Order: sequence, then structure tokens, then C-alpha cells
Amino acid sequence: MKTGQITPLFVTEIYRAEMPEATAFLEELDDTCRAIADEDEAGQTWSQTKAYLGYTSYASLNDLPQRAPIFADLKKFIDGHVAAFIEKLDYDHKPKLDNMWINVLEPMGTHSGHIHPHSVISGTFYVAVPDGSSALRFEDPRLGFMMNAPARKANAGQNHLSFVPVAPAAGTLLLWESWLRHEVPINLAEDVRISVSFNYA
Ligand SMILES: [Fe+2]
Repeated sequence: MKTGQITPLFVTEIYRAEMPEATAFLEELDDTCRAIADEDEAGQTWSQTKAYLGYTSYASLNDLPQRAPIFADLKKFIDGHVAAFIEKLDYDHKPKLDNMWINVLEPMGTHSGHIHPHSVISGTFYVAVPDGSSALRFEDPRLGFMMNAPARKANAGQNHLSFVPVAPAAGTLLLWESWLRHEVPINLAEDVRISVSFNYA
């Protein structure tokens, strides 16, 4: 079959990096996340009120890098990768960490589709990812314009899917532009999935 040339335009980019030799770091971060989740009553109450199955410090703590040195180290790691990502994105702007929060997602927990308003780059660092843990599912931002688009083949390339799950491991860092809608499907693991999310603004 004769084919012409395809030029990908308006590409949505997801950034992924794995922390090298992360075992000791992840152990300390895991312990610290669980300790904070145990003692942060305001966060526990907020999570319960919002029917979040597990714990998040999203609305209760805004000082993780000052609260424990392991979070200051994590911030340094993320800062470097955000700098690399915005370089790739050709941003004429250097966003700074705006907030960072812990997520302890229990089995059967979920987080429905959302964006991160008032931010530029968002992301998640994965601390504990037991077997069966939820992936992070990204949604094609053009979905609302696709009223008459045909269904894709079962074996369609990833670039042509409307929803793309990205499965992290412990030590994985994912970054995306904050306007990109994403969700956490039901956590089918038998243990908690722990992650640290953040916004750069
Ligand atoms: Fe999110």
C-alpha cells in the first residue's frame, strides 16, 4: 500500500523515570508515609468525609519537605526531573513545587477522573505498588471533540487509544501537564498502594 508521510502534531507527552538503587530510600519513605497517615487526624477525617478509601494528606498538610528529610530528598529528585521535562516541552517558564501530598490507597480504593487546576506540571512518585495495584489511566484531552470518530481496532497502537493506563513500579516517577485528565482505577491489590503526588506551579 502506498503511504504518505504522517506528522504528529499537538502531542501529549508523559514523562517517566525510575529512581536508581531506590530500596533503602523507598523503605524510609514508606515508613514515613505510614507514620504520618497514622497520626494526621485532620487528614484522616478529610479522607473519610470525601469517601476516599484510604488516607491522603492533600487537604491537611502542606509542608512535607520541611516535615521530614526524606521528603526534602524526594523533592530534590523530582525537581531535577521536572527541569528535564520542561526542557523537553520547550517551556519558557520554570515552575516551582507548589504542594506535595501522600496517598495511601486501600484495596478497592479509586480516584475518579480529574485534572489539577492552578498548576503547570503534576506528577506522582510511587512508593509501594503491590501486585494488582491500580495503574494511572490517562485520557485523550481531545475526547470531547470526537463525536463521530470511529472505534479503533483491538490492536490499535498506544498513540491511537482514548484511554491509556500506565503501570508504575515502586520507585517510578510520572510527570504530565496538569491539564491532562487522569484517574486511578479500582485498586485490586490486597495491600495498600502508597504514592506521593505533587503540583508545580
Ligand atoms: Fe491526580
